[in-house]
Amino acid sequence: MPVQGLNPIVLCLLAMWRILTPVLSHPKFNHCHQVHENAVCNNARLSSVPEGLPQTLEELHLNYNQIKTLHDKSLLPYPSLITLTLACNDLEKVQSKVFEDSKLLENLNFANNNIYIGYEETSVALRKLPGLRFLDLSENKLNDEMAFTLLHNLSTLEYLNLSGNLLQRLDETSFRDLHNLKELDLQRNIMFEIDSAFGGNPKLQRLNLAFNILPCLTDFHMTQLVVLNASYNYIEWFISRQDLNDTFKLETLDLSNNRLLFFPFLPSRSKLQNLYLSNNLLRFYEHYADNNTLQNSSTSVEFYNLKKHIKNVTVEIWDESLHGDISSLDTLDLRRNQVEYFPNGFIQKMPLLSRLRMSMNCLETLNLTSEQFFGSLYELDISNNRLNQISVDDESLTTLANLTYFNLSHNDLNELPVGLFSSLPRIHSVDLSYNSIGICQPDERNINASSSSSCLQWSNIDSLRQLYLKGCNLETVPNSAFTGLSLTHLELSDNPGIDVQNSLQCLSRTLQHLGLGNTQIQDIDLSRFQTLKSLNLSKNSLSHLPHSIHDTDLKVLDIRDNRLSTIPSDDAHSLASKLHLIFLTGNTFNCCQTQWFWTFEEARTMNMVGKSDIICEHQSMLHRVQDSHSLDCSDAEESIVWYILLLVPICLFLSGISIVVFLTLKPKILQISIKKKYLRPTPY
Ligand SMILES: *[C@@H]1O[C@H](CO)[C@@H](O)[C@H](O)[C@H]1NC(C)=O
Ligand SMILES: *[C@@H]1O[C@H](CO)[C@@H](O)[C@H](O)[C@H]1NC(C)=O
Ligand SMILES: *[C@@H]1O[C@H](CO)[C@@H](O)[C@H](O)[C@H]1NC(C)=O
Ligand SMILES: *[C@@H]1O[C@H](CO)[C@@H](O)[C@H](O)[C@H]1NC(C)=O
Ligand SMILES: *[C@@H]1O[C@H](CO)[C@@H](O)[C@H](O)[C@H]1NC(C)=O
Ligand SMILES: *[C@@H]1O[C@H](CO)[C@@H](O)[C@H](O)[C@H]1NC(C)=O
Ligand SMILES: *[C@@H]1O[C@H](CO)[C@@H](O)[C@H](O)[C@H]1NC(C)=O
Ligand SMILES: *[C@@H]1O[C@H](CO)[C@@H](O)[C@H](O)[C@H]1NC(C)=O
Ligand SMILES: *[C@@H]1O[C@H](CO)[C@@H](O)[C@H](O)[C@H]1NC(C)=O
Ligand SMILES: *[C@@H]1O[C@H](CO)[C@@H](O)[C@H](O)[C@H]1NC(C)=O
Ligand SMILES: *[C@@H]1O[C@H](CO)[C@@H](O)[C@H](O)[C@H]1NC(C)=O
Ligand SMILES: *[C@@H]1O[C@H](CO)[C@@H](O)[C@H](O)[C@H]1NC(C)=O
Repeated sequence: MPVQGLNPIVLCLLAMWRILTPVLSHPKFNHCHQVHENAVCNNARLSSVPEGLPQTLEELHLNYNQIKTLHDKSLLPYPSLITLTLACNDLEKVQSKVFEDSKLLENLNFANNNIYIGYEETSVALRKLPGLRFLDLSENKLNDEMAFTLLHNLSTLEYLNLSGNLLQRLDETSFRDLHNLKELDLQRNIMFEIDSAFGGNPKLQRLNLAFNILPCLTDFHMTQLVVLNASYNYIEWFISRQDLNDTFKLETLDLSNNRLLFFPFLPSRSKLQNLYLSNNLLRFYEHYADNNTLQNSSTSVEFYNLKKHIKNVTVEIWDESLHGDISSLDTLDLRRNQVEYFPNGFIQKMPLLSRLRMSMNCLETLNLTSEQFFGSLYELDISNNRLNQISVDDESLTTLANLTYFNLSHNDLNELPVGLFSSLPRIHSVDLSYNSIGICQPDERNINASSSSSCLQWSNIDSLRQLYLKGCNLETVPNSAFTGLSLTHLELSDNPGIDVQNSLQCLSRTLQHLGLGNTQIQDIDLSRFQTLKSLNLSKNSLSHLPHSIHDTDLKVLDIRDNRLSTIPSDDAHSLASKLHLIFLTGNTFNCCQTQWFWTFEEARTMNMVGKSDIICEHQSMLHRVQDSHSLDCSDAEESIVWYILLLVPICLFLSGISIVVFLTLKPKILQISIKKKYLRPTPY
């Protein structure tokens, strides 16, 4: 990152900082927050440069305002200015004499404006700056002509940001005058061609071409470049000039997210350390060339009209010399390609390789003996391939002394060399998920580390901390399976019917994450797991939380897709005081017992993931728990109805009895009244 001031994230943070700290602002200038020689006037609805700030001002930040024109005299009061940022205004024009007295100005940020409107006058203004080093013109709708007009004679410039404009093609005139340029950001334009563009920039070290529409990079000969980012283009070929005797300074090459069919033709001498090739169509073709079936078809590719410097190139597509110099490589990222095998000796060419990322390729076998990895290997990710065999001899196992992270998840492995992991002295993290590899019973002993077995023993691997055995069809786990381990992460999800209760207890001192999702587990005793921070019990048909959850100090709990109908209030209070994250969706709660929801809601440190998707049932209808308080759910009304229904017969009964008693005690009254009523003489 060249200048912090150029980074929009920093800008936005500054802006927020300003909003959040109005009280601290200098009382004299309403719009500006001022510290020493630095004034921040972001987000202040300014339509011109504020006046009245100290004359000695060195930094002035005016981002997120409404300044349309930077008028000639507006910087006159601040002759000491070194940094001026005007990002995210509506700036259209910088008048030609603005900078006449700003001889010290080095950093200018005009990001996200409309300079395309007044680019000609702006370019005259820029040329008056004798010491301009940083210039951000990103997101200004500049096309080729506008951009190059603006850059004329800016020979002092070191950092230039032209990202997010409308550049289409570069040629030798584009950056001709920028002799001191060190970093150039051309991301997110619509460039389709680069023709000898950087001849005048011998100091250029970092070049970003990401998110353009370049179809190829041929004749790459920028020996001075340290970082080249050409990710997210449509590049099918990357070809370095092969006839150069200089060592390329290139350390990082990002060609990810392109359309490479071949391993890039790298410089024949370089210091390349990081090579990012993920998301291409890359594979090796040596095997194809050997096969008779392809005898007649072309096995060479010819390039015509590359550049005036080189002849037409014809290459044999399996010629391994074209891989170039990869002897300094530290990280090779080949994720999401179509690699079926490594060419002979390919791995051996990388004695310093520490990270090999091969996830999502088509490897079927891996012979660690014949590939001859070096001791520098630290991370090996071969997840999501088609591996059905890994072979190794005892000697090769001892070379992998630095291997720490080994991911073999999502392959077709049924057996593995017995000592594959137990022979690696630094192994820290193993992911064997979604293979059919079991855990051995203690009596199943293999003498040779290199012989294959369909089960592995994990006990007593000192260095192991993280073990992922999801979806390995595990059922019986021997009680001693994890003895002698100091695991912090154990993932056993997607092993329906697994029985682990007894084997887990020996991990109670160290375990921080336990995954038991989709295991049909009914209850688990966690009372001794004092260090447990994260527990996954999703998809288990649980109707209540394990009681021992009270005793843990959990921060993350996943109990999605169970059969919980409520969470008792003491559980809820205890969880609310500890948890940071809880996953509850996929349960059908009882809408009339949702006090827990409000307990969680009130807990400030707690986040209910997918809160609005947590549902409950009431009178056979589903509702969102967060709306449940408005439901006609009142237990009170229901009980009143019940009381009335109970009381009515009792009242009737009591009044019936009292009438009968009354009548038996005072029969005469009745007679009299009857007589009175019926024996009254009737008048005729
Ligand atoms: C660039 O500088 C040269 C020599 O200093 C001068 O002749 C030329 O006119 C300048 N170009 C522009 C566009 O100002
Ligand atoms: C160039 O500007 C863009 C957009 O303003 C920003 O995302 C990018 O980080 C900048 N590049 C550098 C090297 O600072
Ligand atoms: C290359 O640029 C892309 C897009 O900006 C970015 O995501 C990626 O991290 C960059 N690569 C490197 C090696 O910095
Ligand atoms: C590279 O070196 C070889 C022999 O050392 C020489 O013939 C060739 O001309 C050199 N190439 C360049 C571009 O200097
Ligand atoms: C070519 O032959 C190799 C063995 O030499 C074999 O592994 C590979 O699958 C064959 N490839 C094709 C496309 O037939
Ligand atoms: C392959 O080449 C042989 C001669 O070398 C020729 O007879 C045959 O027809 C060719 N096959 C194809 C499919 O072109
Ligand atoms: C490259 O190939 C093209 C097309 O075949 C041809 O016209 C041109 O002369 C060749 N150039 C060289 C330098 O061989
Ligand atoms: C692995 O490679 C070694 C050395 O090349 C070889 O001896 C061994 O047979 C290979 N193993 C398998 C299973 O192919
Ligand atoms: C193993 O890793 C350590 C530290 O990551 C490193 O210093 C050491 O050089 C590595 N060993 C080899 C043989 O590369
Ligand atoms: C192993 O790789 C898989 C698939 O690429 C990934 O989802 C998983 O998180 C990785 N495991 C570890 C422990 O990083
Ligand atoms: C172990 O290796 C030795 C030779 O190194 C071999 O004779 C023996 O049969 C192997 N034992 C097993 C169980 O594979
Ligand atoms: C819990 O495990 C399930 C099943 O493996 C998985 O889908 C889910 O993402 C895990 N939860 C969390 C929070 O990682």
